[in-house]
Formats: sequence, C-alpha cells, structure tokens
Amino acid sequence: MDGDNIDIANVTAMPYGFPPGPPGWPLVGNIFDLGQIPHQTLYKLQAHYGPVIWLKLGSINTMVVQSAKAASELFKKCDLPFADRKVPDSLTALGYNRGSVAFGAYSGYWRKLRRICTTEFLVQKRVNDSIPLRQKCIDDMIDWIQKDVAKSKENGGSGEIQLDWFLFVTSFYTIGNFMLSREVMESTLDKTSEFFEALLLFFGWIGKPNLSDLFPLLRWMDPQRIRRNTGAALERLLGFAAGIVKDRIEENELGKEKKTKDFLDTLLEEGEVNETGHDKLSLKNITILLLRKLEFSLVDEVVGNMLGNNPMLGHKPKFSLKVENPGDFEIFEYLSILQEMFLGGIETTSTTIEWGMAELLRHPNTMKKIQDEIDQVVGRTRKVEENDLNNMPYLQATVKEIMRLHPPVPMLIPRNAREDTEFMGYFVPKNTQIFVNAWAIHRDPATWPDPLSFKPERFLDSDIDYKGQHFQMIPFGSGRRSCLGLTLGHKMLSSTIASLLQTFDWKLAGGAKPEAVDMRETVGLLRKKVPLKAIPSLRE
Ligand code: HEM
Repeated sequence: MDGDNIDIANVTAMPYGFPPGPPGWPLVGNIFDLGQIPHQTLYKLQAHYGPVIWLKLGSINTMVVQSAKAASELFKKCDLPFADRKVPDSLTALGYNRGSVAFGAYSGYWRKLRRICTTEFLVQKRVNDSIPLRQKCIDDMIDWIQKDVAKSKENGGSGEIQLDWFLFVTSFYTIGNFMLSREVMESTLDKTSEFFEALLLFFGWIGKPNLSDLFPLLRWMDPQRIRRNTGAALERLLGFAAGIVKDRIEENELGKEKKTKDFLDTLLEEGEVNETGHDKLSLKNITILLLRKLEFSLVDEVVGNMLGNNPMLGHKPKFSLKVENPGDFEIFEYLSILQEMFLGGIETTSTTIEWGMAELLRHPNTMKKIQDEIDQVVGRTRKVEENDLNNMPYLQATVKEIMRLHPPVPMLIPRNAREDTEFMGYFVPKNTQIFVNAWAIHRDPATWPDPLSFKPERFLDSDIDYKGQHFQMIPFGSGRRSCLGLTLGHKMLSSTIASLLQTFDWKLAGGAKPEAVDMRETVGLLRKKVPLKAIPSLRE
C-alpha cells in the first residue's frame, strides 16, 4: 500500500484510525495550518488535538509527535519501522541522499556508513584525543574578537560585535580540524571564501518550502528550480571536499608520515577493501570532479589555473554519480560524508551558542554565576580547558537549559515509515512522514514546570540529560537515527561558552535592557531572526 495515496477521509475504513488532526482542504490539505513557524504552530495545536497529530501536507501523510510519552513509544517500539528518512526533493540533487548518513535510506549500505562514523570517528576517545586542536580554534576566536573590538573602537565605534560570524567560523575550523586531525587551513576570517558562500547558498535553497515535496508528481518539473540550485551549491561544496581529499591522497602518495589516523584516513582505507573495478577514490577521480566544477562555470580563477596544465582538461570527462553497487564506497560517497560532517556540525553548534549567549545577556545573574564557577574551578591565571568542564555543574546545567529551549533542529530530521505500522493504537501507513517536535516536547508543561522560563537550576538536582534516553529532552534525537556528533557537539558548546565568559564581560549596546534582546526564531534550522550583537570587554 502506498501511503502517499491514502485519503484521510478513509480513516473510518481502517481497522484502527489515523491520529486526530485538523480537517484539511482539498488538494492542499493542512498546508495552511502550519503557519509561519511550523514547530510553534504545531505546539499550539496540541491543546486541541493531543500529543500525536495527523496532517496531510499536499499529498503527503504526516504524523507529528509532540510529547515525551509519545516520543518514548516511537523510539522504543517503532524505531525500526520508522528508521527511514523523508528525503526533501532538493537533497536528491546529484544523488546526494544516496551517499548521505543523515538522509540515506535505512539499508545495509547506510548502516555501514553509520558504523564507520560511530566506531571510527565520533567515539569518545577520538573526541578526547583532539582536545588541543579544538582549544586552538577557541583561542583563535578569542583573538579575532579582540581584534574586531579594537578595530571598531579605532573607528569611533562602541566595540560592538555580531557574534554569529565568529561562532560559525570557529565551528567550521573545529569540525574540519577534528576530521582531518590537523589545521585544515590558515585560520582566517575570509568571508568571501568559496566554501562559506556555497554553504549559505546550500542552506538557503534546502530551507525553502518546495512544491515538489508537497506534490511529488511535480518533482520532474522542479517548478521552483530548488533542486537545480541546490545541486549547483552542492557542486561547489563537493569541490571543496574534493580539494581536501586530493591533498590527502597526494600526501599519502608522497609517503608523508602520520602520527594518528583520522576520519579521512579511515574512509580512504574503506575504499581499498573492495576492488570491483568501478570508480574508486583516486587522484584521477578527484581531478574529474574538480573539472566538472568547471563545467558549471563556478570554479574560481585559482582552481582554474591550477587545472590549466592538466591533460584531462581537453575532453572534460563526465563524472558518474551512479551508485552501481551500493555495497561499495565510491568517490561521491566519500565526499558526501566528509562534507556532511561540516553540514551537520557547523550550524547546529554555532546557532546554539548564539542562542546561549542571548539567554545569558537576558539573564546576567546566570552569566555571573558561570563566571564565578569558572573563577573558582580554574582561576584567572590559566585558560579554561575541556577537562575542567566536568567540574562545572552550573555551566553544564546552563548548557542543557539552552538546548532545552533552543534545540537547533526543532523537529529533528523527518523520518519516513518503511511499512504500515501500528503506533499507540493508530494506523500509520507506509511512506508517512514523521516529525518529532522536540521544540514542543521541551516546552511541555506536563513534564517541565514553568516550561517557558530559562532556569538552569532545574537541571542541578536532576539526572535528565540529552543523550536520547530521557524523552522529555531530545535535542540530539534518539534511536537509530540520533545525532552522530553528540559528544563532539556538546563539548563544543560547553567549552566555547566557558571561554567566552572567562575572557570577557558582555553587555548590550546602547545600554539596552536585557529583555530587549530579540528572541524571534526562523523557520527550519532554529536560527535567530535578528543576529545577536553585544559588546565584549576583557575581564579585569
Ligand atoms: C549542538 C550540536 C548538535 C545538535 C543539537 C545536533 C542535532 C541533531 C539532530 C536533532 C539530528 C537528527 C536526529 C534524529 O532525527 O533523531 C542530528 C543528526 C545528525 N547529526 Fe547532529 N547535532 C549537533 C552536532 C553535530 C555534529 C558536531 C556533527 C558531526 C560532526 C553532527 C552530525 C550529524 C549527523 C551525521 C546526523 C545524521 C544521523 C542519522 O541520520 O543517522 N551533528 N543532529
């Protein structure tokens, strides 16, 4: 049975019915019930329809889960039948979803990808081994902030900075250095860099509401050209990843000595396991990918010149993105995985830290308590380090409270029912899209007293954490498709906030009152609608 074709009007004909939900309009269904910011609108619908809501979005059956109890039922009893992702049409560009951990279908191939990422890469030991690399990124960020403040003052300004850019760049270097176990590149604040531009374009395109997602019959037309434009941004991002891989292969070929094996080494080794004769990760293939970039006229002059002497430039061979044997790794998959770690890790961490700093500027007492804790545990003469963080319960409680109120992926990544399934007594047909509204769950008055207030103290005498076993607090998701970067992400949040507070006192520009901080959200990834600006001053 194809879930996309089931009409909600048939609910009474089912052995057990769909969950309750608002009645939809012909053709468009409940699209207009989602409002401007769907996770907020759906939260309000809970009062009327309960914690499990049924919607028809265009022709797509959709179930929304919005309470800790319902989430617990889903992750404990239906994790497997709901283990697929609903893939937005934009992410099928270049076959991206096929090589993706986040959007790949639940299959043997996907399990292999995920296993490599969890056992080889994002394990606690690797995260701990790379502490010095992360510390360097944070130190650089503190330097950049100081320089920016000094520049602003030289120009007669107040020393106010816009925090989001510093956090974004710091996260970028942190993730990059972690995967490649060295400094990926000269740490500079180059806002015009090809990668950043392409990343912003990519997020911009995948965040747009797409008619093709609501009416899959229109996919072939790509009516808003979203898939095409996402593909163009992806080409640029993959070109960036290809450049990194190309460097590494060249280094390996030159026999450069390595102290530790990193994520990229692991991927390259995996590729050598199977020799089935088709595209493998080789210098030749990487070059082809870079050349393909040229065909899209997106390549900058530098890369163009670099390739100028390449004998392959003449016939510009097409790079095949087809997965012929999904059991094997192919060049595209390597690049996708590498790039996906950037995509998964940068915005989530930098956005959450920005929200955190906004909350702390709104709650100066909390900021002061964290600074006191740092002074007590670390003092003022040495820099706070990751190893100190476990001795700072108040900071840890604050980070949890930040993630409770501002989960950067508010409705997690949509799942897709792999088969007809019974869920909490309801019928959920195959191909139903499933949203878990973590944003709403984190504000549920049934589990959180005074849920809308920012109160880190609520976590001080509580064992609730974010690791996916306490279903009232799931900023990283739970179950088979939970976040791969949990350990790394959490460390990045805590250590960046600790360093920002140890080094600087923070205030709002123009003597603005704390309650004046604009806390409006954007749709999709939970960004601040108005970026946070504040004045840092070195602590005495
Ligand atoms: C504050 C930091 C972060 C938060 C809050 C966060 C949150 C999430 C969430 C909610 C999901 C979807 C889970 C679900 O659908 O159940 C996810 C998936 C994922 N995240 Fe993160 N993330 C963070 C940092 C990172 C980092 C640092 C990386 C990698 C370096 C990363 C890589 C991934 C990947 C690869 C997936 C897809 C997992 C899958 O579908 O199997 N994330 N993340």
